[in-house]
Amino acid sequence: MQDQIDVAAELISKSRHLIALTGSGISAESGIPTFRGKDGLWNKYRPEELATFDAFIRNPRIVWEWYSWRINLILNAKPNPAHITLAELEHMGILKRLVTQNVDDLHERAGSKKIIKLHGDILVTRCISCDYKSRLKAPPNEIPPKCPKCGNLLRPGVVWFGESLPSHAISEALKESKNADVMLVIGTSGVVYPAGYLPIAVKENKGSIIEVNTEETMITRYVDVFLQGKAGEILPQILKTLQNL
Ligand code: OAD
Ligand code: ZN
Repeated sequence: MQDQIDVAAELISKSRHLIALTGSGISAESGIPTFRGKDGLWNKYRPEELATFDAFIRNPRIVWEWYSWRINLILNAKPNPAHITLAELEHMGILKRLVTQNVDDLHERAGSKKIIKLHGDILVTRCISCDYKSRLKAPPNEIPPKCPKCGNLLRPGVVWFGESLPSHAISEALKESKNADVMLVIGTSGVVYPAGYLPIAVKENKGSIIEVNTEETMITRYVDVFLQGKAGEILPQILKTLQNL
């Protein structure tokens, strides 16, 4: 394994434009469940009942109860060494951009600034009919919450199945991926598109990919370095190796 970490550290140290793509696996060690796999959310809950606009309109209370539970989990979680290492790499001027599919705020709390949030932010609520938006410090008191401006329903500020990604976020992420010579892909199954296309865009533009995951994924067969293990353990090892080069 150290051999592979050496290769990864070498690639990173020589990079001109290093970016990272993260998924729910990076927050798993902070106690936030992933979506797929044996303990994944989509193994226990049906996405079509909780994560679509139609489901929300049919039953806003059930959807909000589920989101309130997740909001509580996230507010009580702490960034782990993987989030902290990415913030450190940005601070050192090595990591240029961090693209995340996560709706939690653990990257921000770890100190990362150059974040592109592809799937929205669970701590934001917005009105389904007017432009009202606000940031939550706790789950809403009243469920489902209503818009203080127009009285209509407030929804979680995340991207649901069947919805498009924030257009600025996906176009920036694509631009970054085309420009990246190295991408770190951490804790994502890579099955959800268009996020899953970003590593392909890196390869199409002759960039290299370092993948960190506890399991092989859709992406593994075309990555340059596969580091199998927990993100919270592997990322600090990469940083340590980098500092000793
Ligand atoms: P998934 O649940 O699909 O994948 C999580 C990945 O993390 C898996 O490949 C695991 O093997 C890996 N993993 C788990 N624990 C890990 C650890 N400690 N260290 C490293 N890797 C670990 O989650 P995402 O790829 O994020 O969409 O899923 C993509 C999207 O699907 C999510 O953003 C969400 C979901 O539906 C929306 O909310 C729009
Ligand atoms: Zn409103």
